[in-house]
Amino acid sequence: MVNTVGLIGHNGTLGKSVLVELAKLHAQGKINLSVIHRPTSNTATIPSDVERRELDYDAEDGPSFDAAVKGVNILLSTVGGLGSESQVKLYPALSRSKDLVTFIPSEFGPHYTAYDKAHATIGILQPKITALEEAQKMQLPVTVVQAGITASLVFRAASHDYLAKATASLVTTQDATSLADKHFHVYELNPTGADIAKAFTEGIGSETKLVPLTDDELDAKLHSTNGFEALGATIFRKRADDDLQYQGDRVQVAGYQSQGLNAIVKAAL
Ligand SMILES: NC(=O)c1ccc[n+]([C@@H]2O[C@H](COP(=O)([O-])OP(=O)(O)OC[C@H]3O[C@@H](n4cnc5c(N)ncnc54)[C@H](OP(=O)(O)O)[C@@H]3O)[C@@H](O)[C@H]2O)c1
Repeated sequence: MVNTVGLIGHNGTLGKSVLVELAKLHAQGKINLSVIHRPTSNTATIPSDVERRELDYDAEDGPSFDAAVKGVNILLSTVGGLGSESQVKLYPALSRSKDLVTFIPSEFGPHYTAYDKAHATIGILQPKITALEEAQKMQLPVTVVQAGITASLVFRAASHDYLAKATASLVTTQDATSLADKHFHVYELNPTGADIAKAFTEGIGSETKLVPLTDDELDAKLHSTNGFEALGATIFRKRADDDLQYQGDRVQVAGYQSQGLNAIVKAAL
């Protein structure tokens, strides 16, 4: 069966790459793609052969929401920011739909445990955490895709291109029910701390100086009022304690030519 895939968040940093991959699969007849977008969204990047469905998330729940998800077997969300709240507004229509096989919420981050939530100020993630919990409360079939830090690739992570290709490969799965209520994770590189230091040494041309972070310094970062700093420190802590704990199967992109750690570090310097 060819899955009908609905995409929300097609203009985002990750969404742009996902749209490219899904549009290729659509053109090859491997999926039917519909992009669900806000009335204000830029639709110029959506190929002309891909269906567009406009949805006003501020409207009352009802026929317009049902129409947006009609026929959609896999709803894939790559929304950012307040988009998590818009995802939740789709849930009643998803639970009414007879066509939905699974919903892939906009996750694409590391796995956060009760320990992380208790030991860091990661309120920045709360909308995503709430969106996932709400979906599970409503007993929607959910597929969670986890990744590391896509920006730097250094903490067992994937580039946006790799993450988009891996996620796109999931939605071509013949039996989409095999995705429901499962976790998958994606990483492209898995360097050790020593690998990272070596890449910096080669990039800079002199020995990398390692500066240890004290427990107090780490704690201050974990509780920083800057949400991104607290999030970064959480990943740092998880990496240092070998506590990344990805769940489910790893999705790999066969034959992918990674640019490699040295090139990434060099580009960042
Ligand atoms: N692991 C990592 O290092 C990493 C890195 C980056 C992202 N991520 C994750 O990947 C996901 C996507 O992140 P991103 O940075 O690509 O997001 P982004 O660029 O901020 O996403 C923008 C997209 O979200 C849509 N959107 C924003 N607010 C919305 C709202 N209120 N209602 C409906 N749609 C809304 C926008 O719609 P319009 O087109 O209508 O404007 C746009 O398509 C997030 O879950 C993020 O946490 C993870």
